[in-house]
Amino acid sequence: MNIDLTGRTAIVTGGARGIGRAITLGLAELGADIGVIARNEEAGHAVVDQVRALGRRAEFRRCDVADADEAKTAVDELRTALGGVSIVVNNAGITRDGLLLRMKDDDWTSVVDVNLRGAFNVTRAACKYIMKSQNGRIINITSVVGLIGNPGQANYAASKGGLVGFTKAVAKELAPRGVTVNAVAPGYIETDMTAAIDDKARENLTKAIPAGRYGQPEDVANAVAFLASDLASYITGHVLTVSGGMAM
Ligand code: NAI
Repeated sequence: MNIDLTGRTAIVTGGARGIGRAITLGLAELGADIGVIARNEEAGHAVVDQVRALGRRAEFRRCDVADADEAKTAVDELRTALGGVSIVVNNAGITRDGLLLRMKDDDWTSVVDVNLRGAFNVTRAACKYIMKSQNGRIINITSVVGLIGNPGQANYAASKGGLVGFTKAVAKELAPRGVTVNAVAPGYIETDMTAAIDDKARENLTKAIPAGRYGQPEDVANAVAFLASDLASYITGHVLTVSGGMAM
């Protein structure tokens, strides 16, 4: 059993660094052409150069996924430049942590807008293209926090829990069109997002992970590659945790 994504075109949001970058490179190594959406132009162009070095086609569009017009323009331009879209990975995400009592309106709005509305904006824009492909895939990167909660992350947990409901609703809508829609829920993964956690907190968090360690971005990318492949064509509406067992 091999995964071969030759001839497929994937859009990866937040694909310039961290988990998104690992997904971008992982899908490209398996044969896919890639459209990268992110806010950091330098990192975006750098990852596109790496994908091209693998012999695949790649394009970068700078875009704030929370802005519906920007998202639609980016998706349309990537589709024109790459000739189609059959896979979308909604990975762009942010945190603005704080206890509920002190959480500012903007902390709530910005997190929900990027993490949940962003996935809606990109998916809606890409949907008509994905439905034209034989084996369309939508993969949303949620979080174990959206499944089990976490103090100080009411905004983030709500956005990621919302993404799970979004995944299941769209899975039911698009199943008759041969499109699968799944979510991947990472636990603690080594990226810039988790680099801010201090050593003491990290030690305590690691104790709550049965596998006894943080995951790597490639652990998440491997799950995405499986869900994007023909091997997963009868799996839809599923939330696959990649967490070393912390969200059993
Ligand atoms: P990161 O902060 O390293 O990368 C986030 C990426 O999203 C960047 O490329 C950034 O440019 C992009 N992005 C952020 N806001 C954007 C916007 N408005 N429009 C377009 N692009 C935007 O984060 P990391 O750790 O790689 O996380 C990726 C995803 O995985 C996020 O959705 C995050 O919530 C989720 N996740 C991460 C975990 C971790 O432990 N690192 C655990 C569980 C989920």
